[in-house]
Amino acid sequence: MTNPAATVLVTGASHGIGRAISLALARSGFPVLGVSRTPPEDRPDPARSSEHTSVQWKELDLSNAADVERCVSSLEAVPIRFLILSAVDYGPGQRHPAAEISAQEWQQVVGTNCIGHAILVSRLLPKLAANPPGIIVNISSDVAISPAAGRAAYAASKAGLHAMLRAVAAEKPVECLRIYQLIPTFQVATRGLRRRRAPDFDFSSYGDPAVMGAVVERLVSPSDTSRSPGTYLVRQDGTLEPYSEPSRV
Ligand SMILES: NC(=O)c1ccc[n+]([C@@H]2O[C@H](COP(=O)([O-])OP(=O)(O)OC[C@H]3O[C@@H](n4cnc5c(N)ncnc54)[C@H](OP(=O)(O)O)[C@@H]3O)[C@@H](O)[C@H]2O)c1
Repeated sequence: MTNPAATVLVTGASHGIGRAISLALARSGFPVLGVSRTPPEDRPDPARSSEHTSVQWKELDLSNAADVERCVSSLEAVPIRFLILSAVDYGPGQRHPAAEISAQEWQQVVGTNCIGHAILVSRLLPKLAANPPGIIVNISSDVAISPAAGRAAYAASKAGLHAMLRAVAAEKPVECLRIYQLIPTFQVATRGLRRRRAPDFDFSSYGDPAVMGAVVERLVSPSDTSRSPGTYLVRQDGTLEPYSEPSRV
């Protein structure tokens, strides 16, 4: 076991990249607590698969601020040291112009991806800093730094959380809290993306969610503290390239 005292809280743990991260961390010996609205999709028999025994799960709807507050209160006795943010609501259907985005879509997408995560982060900061260094890894997106047409709600939600975490990083010394924001430079074949593609879409060029699992596992590993906190582009082979955020004017 790598570090038995360090519990990792992973959002979006039921499927996709969050699920892959949960399993990668569990395989490395971290006790993992996954949160999502529905339970993980592939819950095998724990007696036959040891990596799943250290992944626990808790229900959480990030679009509901009161639910986030309740969840955090219920974790009072849990020593969370690492927080991985992977939950996402991509919004309904295909890309569509901002003029067609309903109030409900704004609330659901920004409420889940940005506000829910922001409340979770701000409430867990004292806990993360209690056993320094705490680590936050945000699975960010290219839309956070380079918004695209037809994705206004998703882009706003990802940019909002990205900026919030940069502000938090500026508040805390790195000895206390290390924040990594990861921007995949490739598409990953997940349930969320599959839902947004045509049924006959060819996913052969898409990456495996396990790549992101391995990257996050390296970032939280006590044997690899060499990587400076900040924003990184993630290549499809799992290598990282530092991304220079715009500096303050
Ligand atoms: N896939 C890609 O190509 C790609 C590329 C760049 C960045 N990313 C980023 O990678 C991350 C993961 O993406 P993904 O493709 O793996 O997504 P995904 O397959 O759609 O999975 C999304 C996860 O978020 C959870 N979730 C959705 N709404 C929620 C809510 N209201 N409250 C709590 N949990 C909620 C889902 O679980 P429930 O439905 O059970 O709640 C699920 O576990 C996201 O941050 C995304 O922006 C992905």
